[in-house]
Amino acid sequence: MKGIILAGGSGTRLSPSTISVNKHLLAVYDKPMIYYPLSVLMLAQIEDILIISTPEDVNRFESLLGNGESLGISITYQSQEDPDGIPEALVIGEDFIGDDDVTLILGDNIFYGQGFTTLLRKAIQQHEHATVFGYRVKDPERFGVVEFDERKKVVSLEEKPDDPKSDFAVTGLYIYDHHAVDIAKHLSPSERGELEITDLNKEYLEKQQLDVQLLGRGFAWMDAGTHDSLFEASEFVKNIQQRQGFKLACIEEIAYYMGHIDKQELMQIGHFMAKTDYGQYLIDIANRRHIEQYWEEFDSHPMLEVTKP
Ligand code: G1P
Repeated sequence: MKGIILAGGSGTRLSPSTISVNKHLLAVYDKPMIYYPLSVLMLAQIEDILIISTPEDVNRFESLLGNGESLGISITYQSQEDPDGIPEALVIGEDFIGDDDVTLILGDNIFYGQGFTTLLRKAIQQHEHATVFGYRVKDPERFGVVEFDERKKVVSLEEKPDDPKSDFAVTGLYIYDHHAVDIAKHLSPSERGELEITDLNKEYLEKQQLDVQLLGRGFAWMDAGTHDSLFEASEFVKNIQQRQGFKLACIEEIAYYMGHIDKQELMQIGHFMAKTDYGQYLIDIANRRHIEQYWEEFDSHPMLEVTKP
């Protein structure tokens, strides 16, 4: 399974903050926005990741995350010349995907909830053609919307409908087989001039190859694409972190607990930013008892839901 993060776009809805900075590099509380989707792919055990951004911004992501080595994964980069829509990420990533399946995630999507890692890993293991995730929202007209019949069977998908047929939005996390690349290549632009991921999903739906998994009310799903939603996401992250003492989307912590990096490497990253609470957090983790002792106490890691290797 390959992973793609789409972190392009012009971020106009966050202007002026995004005039000279890519939206996905803005902080959601104490870390760059892109850490959140990256953490999702890492927790899904995807170790080969492509980040797609604008030609101007690709280098900035590279200077932040490098080739992924410090996280024990592989990260490569490609650029999207114009913001022509989400499916274009699959076309740009064609060679990267090859004959593999691919999990595509939008760079401004934040997922949080007990059981999410388990659900995602299961979805990846069991998936056949295309899997998307539905989440109930108050403002479905802002998203792709999925309609169900009385037997909970998916009957339609619509992109930003004026009159939504349900309250279930399709989140920005998609699992596809490699046929998605060919489908993406043959899509036509919508009225807003973009290739629509909803049109691609509709093709799978027509072939009865679309699985829609619902994330229940215990999950939080946020997109941080406007000033208000970015602020709300930051507040959410701050509140959870301060209450629990665990960080969300701490990619170095995930890399450590998943065994991609060792204690010394974690300690080194922590010392690099030791003046921040983030750095101290990493140092604290590295100073804790040895990881195996955790497994003795818990079947799965309490923070990461990582099951015993
Ligand atoms: C895009 C997709 C939409 C999906 C949303 C999730 O919307 O087109 O189907 O529900 O991401 O974040 P956009 O980012 O173009 O508003």
